[in-house]
Amino acid sequence: MDLSIIVPTFNEGPNVDELLQRIGDALDGRVFEVIFVDDSTDDTPAIINVAANSSPFPVRLIHRENADAGLGGAVVAGFQAATSRWCLVMDGDLQHPPEDIPRLIDRAERGDVDVVIASRYASGGTSKGLADATRTAVSRASTALTKAMFPRKLANCSDPMTGFFLVNTEAVDVEALRPRGFKILLEVLARRQLRVDEVPFDFAERHAGTSKATFTQGVRFLTQLAMLRFGRMSAFALVGGFGAIANLVIMWGLIRIGMDYVPAAIIASVITIITNFLLLEYLVFADMRSESGRMLTRFLKSFSFNGLEAIIRIPILSILVEGAHIPAVLAAALTLVAAFVLRFVFHALVVYA
Ligand code: GDD
Ligand code: MN
Repeated sequence: MDLSIIVPTFNEGPNVDELLQRIGDALDGRVFEVIFVDDSTDDTPAIINVAANSSPFPVRLIHRENADAGLGGAVVAGFQAATSRWCLVMDGDLQHPPEDIPRLIDRAERGDVDVVIASRYASGGTSKGLADATRTAVSRASTALTKAMFPRKLANCSDPMTGFFLVNTEAVDVEALRPRGFKILLEVLARRQLRVDEVPFDFAERHAGTSKATFTQGVRFLTQLAMLRFGRMSAFALVGGFGAIANLVIMWGLIRIGMDYVPAAIIASVITIITNFLLLEYLVFADMRSESGRMLTRFLKSFSFNGLEAIIRIPILSILVEGAHIPAVLAAALTLVAAFVLRFVFHALVVYA
């Protein structure tokens, strides 16, 4: 089997030589290429080019200047550039030991499989490279949540979040992949029912450098999950829910520091209208941003609806507080729930029709 090894890199210079050395040793005698898909902001591309010039096997570099392009998108770019239909995806920091690659290939060559996953959670595997207890707990919890949401597609997969897998890209609709965050394998598995098998592996410590996983990646992951499972509108609801909570927290904070509830509600609403729109554009409708003509229209519709809604909400809020003597934050919560339902209907039927 010919093989394309796809390695997404973001500032991984100190790991490049060791990685190529160990891949070469592990795959001695086989035909393969290595494709680095690099979004680095440092000298990593230069280091890769030097290594490529003296490498006994083909090493290619795709360097992208838009540093925000992201891990998932990098892997898709690798799929598109690969010369082999079998692509092995692995991290560039040696947490995925190259010595495990032959076991993945052997399983694929036995047939009846579209994806072979290197799993930390299959019996015999470990996740000791997940440095701290918090990361381990988050990983375990998100794995359980994901498996619960895709019981059939992930039936044979104990580790849908791994970044180490071998896939037959002919079985995947590569053009349909809309990777938003770190979790490209989940995107691959959730869209089509594929034949999956896995081999256990030991998730190692990072060789050099630091992890690029962030809280933002976690939020993107939740959005991705909601989009894949329930479609765009549920991700919209998730964003709206975050916005409503943020609105209440900001208002509560402003009242606490002595502000009157009316200006507090106005300020909280302005902040959340803007952040909500940005979240919709960058998370929920990220794949539609390129149609910029219509985006302006969307912005105007969404912004004026939310502005209008907030303005109408304030008198209703004061009726609830002065007239019905409902506590200010509770009254604000009631108006936000009503506004949320209206906004959902408006965006579904008008803005993103
Ligand atoms: N091209 C590109 N662009 N590569 C990136 C980007 C990016 O924006 N962000 C990260 N990478 C590369 C890193 O350079 C590394 O080679 C690989 O993606 C994984 O990133 P790490 O920063 O090492 O992430 P991690 O070790 O915390 O996460 C790994 O384990 C997770 C499971 O716990 C990844 O394999 C995740 O996909 C996996 O879910
Ligand atoms: Mn890592």
